[in-house]
Amino acid sequence: MASKDWSPKSWRDKPIRQVPEYDDPAALEAVEGQLSRFPPLVFAEEARSLKARLAEVAEGRAFLLQGGDCAESFAEFHPDNIRDTFKVLLQMAVILTFGAKLPVVKVGRMAGQFAKPRSAATETVDGVELPSYRGDIINGIDFDPASRKPDPERLLRAYSQAASTVNLLRAFSQGGFADLHRVHQWNMGFIADTPTGERYQEMAERIADSLTFMEACGVNGANTPSISRVDFYTSHEALLLWYEEALTRRDSTRKDAPWVDTSAHMLWIGDRTRDLDEAHVEFMRGILNPIGVKCGPSLEPDNLLKLLDRLDPDHEPGRITLISRFGAGKAGDHLPQLVRAVQKAGRKVVWSCDPMHGNVIKSESGYKTRPVHAILKEVQEVFAIHRAEGSHMGGVHFEMTGQDVTECIGGPYNLGDKDLSDRYHTHCDPRLNGPQALELAFLIAEMLKEGREDDSLREAS
Ligand code: PEP
Ligand code: CO
Repeated sequence: MASKDWSPKSWRDKPIRQVPEYDDPAALEAVEGQLSRFPPLVFAEEARSLKARLAEVAEGRAFLLQGGDCAESFAEFHPDNIRDTFKVLLQMAVILTFGAKLPVVKVGRMAGQFAKPRSAATETVDGVELPSYRGDIINGIDFDPASRKPDPERLLRAYSQAASTVNLLRAFSQGGFADLHRVHQWNMGFIADTPTGERYQEMAERIADSLTFMEACGVNGANTPSISRVDFYTSHEALLLWYEEALTRRDSTRKDAPWVDTSAHMLWIGDRTRDLDEAHVEFMRGILNPIGVKCGPSLEPDNLLKLLDRLDPDHEPGRITLISRFGAGKAGDHLPQLVRAVQKAGRKVVWSCDPMHGNVIKSESGYKTRPVHAILKEVQEVFAIHRAEGSHMGGVHFEMTGQDVTECIGGPYNLGDKDLSDRYHTHCDPRLNGPQALELAFLIAEMLKEGREDDSLREAS
């Protein structure tokens, strides 16, 4: 995979955006040295298995669900938060599996999603200008000079948090928590009391019934591990390249010892750092992990094809997930051209839809928020575009949490602007709360189901 002129540090010779300037390079280097001796967080074979699953998604035989915090934070680090986000992801996955009748590949924006690209390098409050907050792996959110100063020690804390998060996620996914027999128990109190929660409960009854029936037929968790366990993968934006480089290791189990970024199974390139000749693309091209690329309004079809040639010269199945994020009402101006270019180039990719990052608005009271109806509208538009182009929407990418937050407006409680101040905790963009995430999952499941029924009608006629 990696060509001769690539190394984990070859990105350092390229222009770079969206990373901090550390004023003590020796301190940064010392941290890099430490990190590079720490154990990997994932194993190369797991990244390959995710790639194989994504190849199935690209063929239309599975669906990708990727979700989690916009930015993980040190303050919100708590086992209950990890558990609850995991629960909501499991619920969404069950809803999608039930509706779409397809296996769902589950990927968390978890265990490493710490670094954030920002629209401005500095922030000014009451005439005081300080560096922008760039995520807890870089600096602190408090608006004071000490907290906003980039601190290399934060990389170590982020690693440690990522390591214990991935450890708990592995325990939950393999140790019985994710057993389908527990489908009722994933429904948390504040969700269960909503109409969406009740709808979930009804679906859970039907699943429980089917499980009982299957057990009578001899199919159970002991002979069918997919009933009692899930494969759950981690992902984040590969933005802070010192961290990524230090965790990039050779896979010594293979003859050619390819490089794998062991900070997560899947990494993605943000919409602001996908320049062909810059550092982030340079770094990503050499690692074997599956890679996501955010596709926003400024991406031209020609550039997309050049990016694909650079990142996936061998047309490797499952290597590339293109994550469109245009905003409701805007996908039609951009996505069809991109889809056609990819098809014309004879490439197979996973097309995922991030309906979050193009739909941020400022509420009247000044909160950064996202209307649930705009999120749904973008998903519907993207779904329809793929159908019209003979391609398909293979997945969705959400910012959500299992906490009972009030950050996005609309949804089952019909949250309004005045509610946002109640529990607005995000360190970056507004996230869907549990009921909102489930409502969207039901709507998407319906859409996928209708799409499938249309297809079978067409095949029959
Ligand atoms: C993100 O996913 O949090 C993000 C910053 O997205 P984008 O690069 O699409 O703006
Ligand atoms: Co975000």
